[in-house]
Amino acid sequence: MALLSVNNLTLQFDTDEGRLTAVEDVSFEIHAGEVLGLVGESGSGKSVTAKSIMKLNPDNAVYDPASSIQLTLDDQSIDVLSLKKGRDLRVVRGGAVSMIFQEPMASFAPAITIGAQMVEQLVLHKGMTEREATTVSIEMLERVGISDASKRFAQYAFELSGGMRQRAMIAMALSTRPKLLIADEPTTALDVTIQAQVIDLMKDLIAEFQMGILFITHDLGVIAQTADRVAVMYLGKVVEQGSVRGVIKRPAHPYTRGLINALPRIDDLDAPLTPVAGDIPSPLERPSGCVFHTRCPVMQPACRDTVPAMTSHGVEARTVSVIGSDLDTGNSDSGKNAGQKPGQVMGQDTGQDTGIGTGPDADQGIGEGDTTAPGIDHTAACFVTARAVSQASKVEVS
Ligand SMILES: Nc1ncnc2c1ncn2[C@@H]1O[C@H](COP(=O)(O)OP(=O)(O)OP(=O)(O)O)[C@@H](O)[C@H]1O
Ligand code: SF4
Ligand SMILES: [Mg+2]
Repeated sequence: MALLSVNNLTLQFDTDEGRLTAVEDVSFEIHAGEVLGLVGESGSGKSVTAKSIMKLNPDNAVYDPASSIQLTLDDQSIDVLSLKKGRDLRVVRGGAVSMIFQEPMASFAPAITIGAQMVEQLVLHKGMTEREATTVSIEMLERVGISDASKRFAQYAFELSGGMRQRAMIAMALSTRPKLLIADEPTTALDVTIQAQVIDLMKDLIAEFQMGILFITHDLGVIAQTADRVAVMYLGKVVEQGSVRGVIKRPAHPYTRGLINALPRIDDLDAPLTPVAGDIPSPLERPSGCVFHTRCPVMQPACRDTVPAMTSHGVEARTVSVIGSDLDTGNSDSGKNAGQKPGQVMGQDTGQDTGIGTGPDADQGIGEGDTTAPGIDHTAACFVTARAVSQASKVEVS
């Protein structure tokens, strides 16, 4: 059974400008010992999704009644969204679920030392004595690479540099040995050396404690190193989800492909970056049909008013947001796609990969075959995507 199961999560906020949709119909699971990466541009709804798991969104949040978040702790199933404020919520905020926040300054009380805050939560939630809690806290500060940990333990958050505060936040979140760790951009503020240390630490702790992790980041490179599976979010929706290898090496959705194309190539520093064109729209003005249609390089007229659905494909357990559902059988009208070879995804031969590695043999940078080939009729492009993913998933991903 999954440690965390999020189903059809739809969340809106009441604002002075009206009600906005921040998350729409999002579903994913995390098992013990598994890392799910959540990636997407700023404003795509990553943090709001993460906070929902601990019901930490503010009072103007409105959850759709069809939304469900189930947490399974010690064989006990908890319906998180039905928990009311206060005592009930301790079950998710009492140490079994920990969150590393994007803004560490907001997580530490300014007038209490780092150490006192760490000790307090261990005494409260883990029943440790102050002496035990002090030992565990200092040890954890050391494990995240904080030198002179005993001294830092006695300092206030404002006395630490940004990177050190972030590491202290990580140490505090990990010290309760949570079953589920929600890490919202945990390494973004860190330099690459410390980032590598923290990622290694997290990997050790996953192995040691078999915790599940929701790892949120903009950085697909970090996802490739850390996560087992990845969910790609755009404007509140998950548009593609699957194994890290499958999604990063053979992205199917145009947005995922755009994110990968925007990465710098370390093997060709002069290569131009190709960011996804345009800006993410305001959630108050969500586009009709496919929410990505205003920026999609292969958008078709039907995309303006047809809402794509997440569709499952093949052995990779990949799901992709696509228009159409009969594509596994190849019965769609994608025969309009003159010149499209079987197995081609958005003009890419799926036999080629992006060259972004996820293992020891990792290539650096983006490989060949990652641009939309000329001369291909992309009519109903996501129909093509659906069929291509189905075919690609039958090819062993190396
Ligand atoms: N309390 C709130 N009231 C109204 N709108 C909100 C609130 N919190 C978040 N939003 C909106 O919800 C959308 C998703 O926000 P969220 O913080 O989840 O984005 P994100 O993907 O985490 O972005 P970033 O990468 O910048 O952290 C944004 O448009 C944001 O402005
Ligand atoms: S082809 Fe259409 S449905 Fe697919 S991502 Fe582009 S706009 Fe969306
Ligand atoms: Mg965020």
